[in-house]
Amino acid sequence: MNPLVPSDLHARSEHQQSAATLMFFGDPHGDFKPMIAAVERLRPEAIVLLGDLQARRPLHIELGPILDHTEVWLIHGNHDTDTDTDFENLWRSELAERNLHGRVVEIAGYKVAGLGGIFRSKIWDPRRPVEEAAFFSADALRRSMRPEERWRDGIARRHHSTIFPEDYQRLLRSPPADILVTHEAPAAHPHGWQAIDELAETLGVQLVVHGHHHQNIDYLAEGLMPAAAPFRAFGVDMGSHLAWPRDAQRETGSERPPQDLLDLAAKVFGSEAQVWLDTPHTWLDGQTPAAFAAAGGADKVRSMLNAIQHGGVV
Ligand SMILES: [Fe+2]
Repeated sequence: MNPLVPSDLHARSEHQQSAATLMFFGDPHGDFKPMIAAVERLRPEAIVLLGDLQARRPLHIELGPILDHTEVWLIHGNHDTDTDTDFENLWRSELAERNLHGRVVEIAGYKVAGLGGIFRSKIWDPRRPVEEAAFFSADALRRSMRPEERWRDGIARRHHSTIFPEDYQRLLRSPPADILVTHEAPAAHPHGWQAIDELAETLGVQLVVHGHHHQNIDYLAEGLMPAAAPFRAFGVDMGSHLAWPRDAQRETGSERPPQDLLDLAAKVFGSEAQVWLDTPHTWLDGQTPAAFAAAGGADKVRSMLNAIQHGGVV
């Protein structure tokens, strides 16, 4: 699977910046700088974080600089239960109520459904019927545990990021939605799940956006899903984002970094050019050179490449 050229996902030229309605951010894993920079620059109406936040401070503090600029929504990922700190900085933060897991919420004019966490076969393998699940719900798991086995008198911390059949079925029975955000990937991904596709189709969504795999993937553009598929799907990498709606210009893939800059990158890095273009850089507010250039910052990226070409350390 080839990584998607980020410019196809991210970039918005100056005249398009006001059109950013909704932005989806890949797994931050504790680094919120690229997200804050992108929100300050593009001012979307709302953002959705796709899990694995691992905030080092309570999430509302981490995102304090942008809370007045945009509406923040999220789902959790598997790593949000790695430690007590990961757990508390999300579930005990003032933004905990913005978790979309298991429900549909109207955000920036779209009905957005959320399914956080991952499937764990010790609880439920969704390739098997629900009746074969070891535990239908978190409550059923808790009741099976002896008091001394419990974490804070409840289920193990880890299973707060497990998808239980009850969560999935509740969402399946929700009213129709426009967009489904998940941490797990749809079936077209090598590590994806048919259960995500079934959920998307039942909800009638036009769009599925997921995190977890640290890849920018446009499933249609990469030939992983047919144009006739009932929904479009995107994976979003850590440090990256997907802006929605995509405008007609970007649908054609015509908005990319300028060709001379791509040529210069190829001259400087050879076969590694795309890797450099797709790697977040501290000089660019943590954004990738490709995204930064395509969003109007080509001059800065060009001067970085010139510096590297002439022996500078960038
Ligand atoms: Fe994950």
